Amino acid sequence: MIYITRRESFNAAHRLFKKELSDEENLKIFGKCSNPNWHGHNYTLFVTVKGEINPQTGLLINLKDLSLLLKEIIIDKIDHKNINIEVDFMKDVLASTENIAIKIWQQLENPVKKIGAELHCVKIVETENNFVEYFG
Ligand code: NI
Repeated sequence: MIYITRRESFNAAHRLFKKELSDEENLKIFGKCSNPNWHGHNYTLFVTVKGEINPQTGLLINLKDLSLLLKEIIIDKIDHKNINIEVDFMKDVLASTENIAIKIWQQLENPVKKIGAELHCVKIVETENNFVEYFG
């Protein structure tokens, strides 16, 4: 079993809030990320897949295939977008890094199998000091 990771990045806007709460209450729970006028992050996405090496090629998968898959299924949909209102796979979900990681996992799980590997980890770095990892 071997693991390989592809890094991608995207910039996106979001707001963390519950609509039934006041701005003040949201600020208490979500801090700066509850700013009513949105704000952005430069996110970095690490997708790790695992499997057996193909003895013919010495490769687990063709990384180009993984890169194209990530671009088509995730990056094209989320980059330079507002996560709360423009990203189909984040519809009706609080736009936290935790939820983004889970939703990205759900988008990728089956497509990754089709290129010959198994999804192992979705890691999202939101800021220099904060990141989330999801293992399914
Ligand atoms: Ni934020």
